[in-house]
Amino acid sequence: MTSSHTTLAFFFLLLVLASADLASDEQALLSFAASVPHPPKLNWDKNLSLCSSWIGITCGVSNLTSRVVAVRLPGVGLYGSVPPATLGKLNALKVLSLRSNSLFGSLPSDILSLPSLQYLYLQHNNFSGELADSSSSISTQLLVLDLSYNSFSGNIPSGLRNLSQITVLYLQNNSFDGPIDSLDIPSVKVVNLSYNNLSGPIPENLKNSPEDSFVGNSLLCGPPLSPCSGRATSPSILPRPLTENLHPVRKRQSKAYIIAIVVGCSLAVLLLGAVFLICLMKRTKREKQGGEGGRLQMGGVNSKKPEAFGSGVQDPEKNKLFFFERCNHNFDLEDLLKASAEVLGKGVSVRLTRPCSRTQLPSW
Ligand SMILES: *[C@@H]1O[C@H](CO)[C@@H](O)[C@H](O)[C@H]1NC(C)=O
Ligand SMILES: *[C@@H]1O[C@H](CO)[C@@H](O)[C@H](O)[C@H]1NC(C)=O
Ligand SMILES: *[C@@H]1O[C@H](CO)[C@@H](O)[C@H](O)[C@H]1NC(C)=O
Ligand SMILES: *[C@@H]1O[C@H](CO)[C@@H](O)[C@H](O)[C@H]1NC(C)=O
Ligand SMILES: *[C@@H]1O[C@H](CO)[C@@H](O)[C@H](O)[C@H]1NC(C)=O
Ligand SMILES: *[C@@H]1O[C@H](CO)[C@@H](O)[C@H](O)[C@H]1NC(C)=O
Ligand SMILES: *[C@@H]1O[C@H](CO)[C@@H](O)[C@H](O)[C@H]1NC(C)=O
Repeated sequence: MTSSHTTLAFFFLLLVLASADLASDEQALLSFAASVPHPPKLNWDKNLSLCSSWIGITCGVSNLTSRVVAVRLPGVGLYGSVPPATLGKLNALKVLSLRSNSLFGSLPSDILSLPSLQYLYLQHNNFSGELADSSSSISTQLLVLDLSYNSFSGNIPSGLRNLSQITVLYLQNNSFDGPIDSLDIPSVKVVNLSYNNLSGPIPENLKNSPEDSFVGNSLLCGPPLSPCSGRATSPSILPRPLTENLHPVRKRQSKAYIIAIVVGCSLAVLLLGAVFLICLMKRTKREKQGGEGGRLQMGGVNSKKPEAFGSGVQDPEKNKLFFFERCNHNFDLEDLLKASAEVLGKGVSVRLTRPCSRTQLPSW
């Protein structure tokens, strides 16, 4: 019972809200019709249903409510200027076509900033003045903007740069001037800027357009028109590919270097580890032997087979080196180095023996 009441109340509220929005749309249209003289065939009458009977009006569902989404009045003989807060209040509007009428004066900025506006056709009128450069407020939903064959003047608003979805842009036969770098928009497929007073280089994204998209602007330059004279093109175009090509190579090279260094270091560490392990094993083995018999054979070269190494002329007994434990004799580093050189060079064996008898020390 209460729930059904709530539902009913909800739907009533929705209906009121919806009709409020639609009523505000209707009011906006009537204000427009009242300020722009038009022939009687425009049957905009409160007695008729806005959505089903008014000429040029299309309704649609927007935010769950019925709203005016399109106003199409091409060539109906509208004469005069469009006041602000009329068509600019149709905030669910997606399509506005007023082409081929006799509208003049400035275009109210609230029309360009309608949040849902996708298609704006104003060509073949006599709109004049600058496009309001409250630039950020141009609808970013715009897909088609046709302002051609009017008397618009001033710079191309920088806010056009933000129209990331725009595909068709017709501005030909106006009096726009200044640079066009704000038209460097990737989404643009068709553009016509002919017969204005625009200047400067044609942006990258427009350079594949036909030449007759730009004619009648004596100060425009760059492809597809004749090249700009020095200044702008050569420094901006030449260094870019150089840096773009060099950096990845450099990066790749440094990567390779790093990998090589890491691999090399790893191998070196492994090798060192292996050598250390071998030394350790040999040492423990040696210590065992030394502990057991008190005799350590170094170099693994047996004095009994001297003919296998060297000349065989040397007396094996002469080449024997004897080290003595618990002996006061100090061998310094130089002595030891000399000894090893001799040991390695001559293939002698070094023996460590217990008794301290200096007599057997060879003369180094
Ligand atoms: C609209 O309807 C009212 C009555 O509902 C009538 O008096 C009025 O004349 C009508 N207006 C037009 C323009 O038809
Ligand atoms: C739809 O509703 C959202 C949130 O209430 C609002 O921001 C938006 O402007 C509305 N859109 C239209 C077309 O009314
Ligand atoms: C268009 O408007 C300009 C002034 O903004 C005026 O000089 C010109 O004559 C008008 N052109 C036509 C065809 O009405
Ligand atoms: C473009 O849009 C950004 C936000 O997306 C805004 O900050 C900026 O002011 C806009 N630029 C122009 C020129 O409107
Ligand atoms: C556009 O401008 C050019 C140059 O002024 C002119 O020759 C041409 O007739 C104009 N086109 C229209 C449709 O007005
Ligand atoms: C075109 O613009 C230049 C400056 O960029 C200006 O000197 C010239 O008077 C303009 N011509 C017309 C016809 O508006
Ligand atoms: C651009 O507009 C001019 C002037 O009306 C016209 O001559 C030319 O063919 C158009 N070019 C394109 C690509 O639409």
